[in-house]
Amino acid sequence: MRATFKKCLVLILLVGLLLALFHAWSPGTGSAVDIRPRQGGLLKKLIEEKTRDTIGDYHDIAYNIKEDVAGNVAQNTCMCLADKESFHLPFSNLLFPSVRAHKFDEAFLASHPDPEGVKHLRAKEYSRFQKRSYTPADVLIVAEANSPLQYPTQGVEVRPLKTIIIPGLGLKEEKGSNHRVYLTATLGVFDVAATVDEVSVEGDGEKHMMLSSSHLPALNRQLQFVTYTNTVFHPKTADTVHFATDGHQSFFTVKVGHGTIPTLYNTGYEKEYNISALVTIATKTFLRYDKLKELIDSIRKYYPTVTIVIADDNEHPQPVTGPHIDHYIMPFGKGWFAGRNLAVSQVTTKYVLWVDDDFFFTTNTKLEQMVDILEKTTLDLVAGSVREATGYTATFRHTISVEEGGEEGDCLHIRKGYHHVIEGFPNCVVADAVINFFMGRTDKVQQVGFNPRLARQAHLEFFIDGLGSLHIGSCSDIIVNHASKIQLPWTKTESQKTYDKFRYSPSSNDHNIHQEVFYFKNRFKCETSK
Ligand SMILES: *[C@@H]1O[C@H](CO)[C@@H](O)[C@H](O)[C@H]1NC(C)=O
Repeated sequence: MRATFKKCLVLILLVGLLLALFHAWSPGTGSAVDIRPRQGGLLKKLIEEKTRDTIGDYHDIAYNIKEDVAGNVAQNTCMCLADKESFHLPFSNLLFPSVRAHKFDEAFLASHPDPEGVKHLRAKEYSRFQKRSYTPADVLIVAEANSPLQYPTQGVEVRPLKTIIIPGLGLKEEKGSNHRVYLTATLGVFDVAATVDEVSVEGDGEKHMMLSSSHLPALNRQLQFVTYTNTVFHPKTADTVHFATDGHQSFFTVKVGHGTIPTLYNTGYEKEYNISALVTIATKTFLRYDKLKELIDSIRKYYPTVTIVIADDNEHPQPVTGPHIDHYIMPFGKGWFAGRNLAVSQVTTKYVLWVDDDFFFTTNTKLEQMVDILEKTTLDLVAGSVREATGYTATFRHTISVEEGGEEGDCLHIRKGYHHVIEGFPNCVVADAVINFFMGRTDKVQQVGFNPRLARQAHLEFFIDGLGSLHIGSCSDIIVNHASKIQLPWTKTESQKTYDKFRYSPSSNDHNIHQEVFYFKNRFKCETSK
């Protein structure tokens, strides 16, 4: 009898335990939340109508168009036009550079078995991208003249699912018998953190709240306690709040989101820059162990303890040994950008220096100068220049701009040159694309990444992906040397010949990947360059 009772008790306990575990494992039982990308809805329509009304007035007043200014206004109809070539001489493009144009859509679609299908797919993917990246904080809002409503135009921010007091709300109008305001939101609810006598509050805890009072100062006092609580979780978005009286309307945005978590590097306190603690040198090697050895030896002359990360996709990898060397062996022929990606992903210092495996350091390769400009400015990346064996020094500075081009895609424009000189650093300028010898903030370079599909020749692609997130500089007085490239064919070794075959004779497949990356991934229709 006793034993059966004990068994029953154990059974009941076990079942209870299982139920408790099941409860803990099962997903929350709260109601589901729609997190499909939204592009506004009712409130957005209201804002658009209001904006059209407020800025579309005065149709009956005549005007004269000023061509030179009006022509510069972006119109979403870009074109890629080449300069007309007036004469043809060998090297004429070197002496008198002219604008060249290239159409990705024609080149890529012509070689594609299903051009209409791929066009359609690109449009679909783009529309999804737009929905995903849409934030109500980007919507144009115009404040009406003589509105009695007072509200914050920007700077209101709430963490996901948290509550804030909306600062700055008020109503400034003539005294009347009844004063009334309305608040409406999409992603959250309103309430009051305190109540004020003589004020009526309707809809507290809801998306639409009304406050009214016959005593205007009391209503304004009450408005100081209005709270907003975000109710739809999103890590980074915005809610548009509609704030109105019976006769006036206004809109403002509340940013919803987590803050940006910083990536800080504990580099130790030093009076002078300790390059070994701050910088990792990254490179990619393929078939050029002799060059790589020269590079490592030259680095060790000046920086004996700096870490060197090497990505290696040789078919028959050779050991590369020595202190402070991390040698990563990759599958054969993974390629240029895949190697860069791998090398950069392994860096743990604050900065990463990119060098090609056929560069070598001299007394002019002053990494302290690169660290100095990165520490003292807002630059994310700074390049130096590369001295050829002939004595010629290249800086390779380009500006990149993208013009909107409607459904066909956007236009990419690449020009030699830079934006401006950097104050305090007379040999340094700001640009959008720079040479293969650069130091960058590791976290920013890792964020942009190197598209591993680009296996052979690729360079500008990284800077195109980084446009809008990397602030880039270029200094002419920080110099690395380049082992000679110009060599008579019959003096080349077997490995050099194989290298040239891989690197400089891209197959039609590689060419196609470039076209596809520009046409599909980056959604360009064409490019001009000069
Ligand atoms: C510089 O940093 C390295 C690596 O963190 C460290 O081993 C070395 O002691 C530091 N040098 C000085 C002079 O503090």
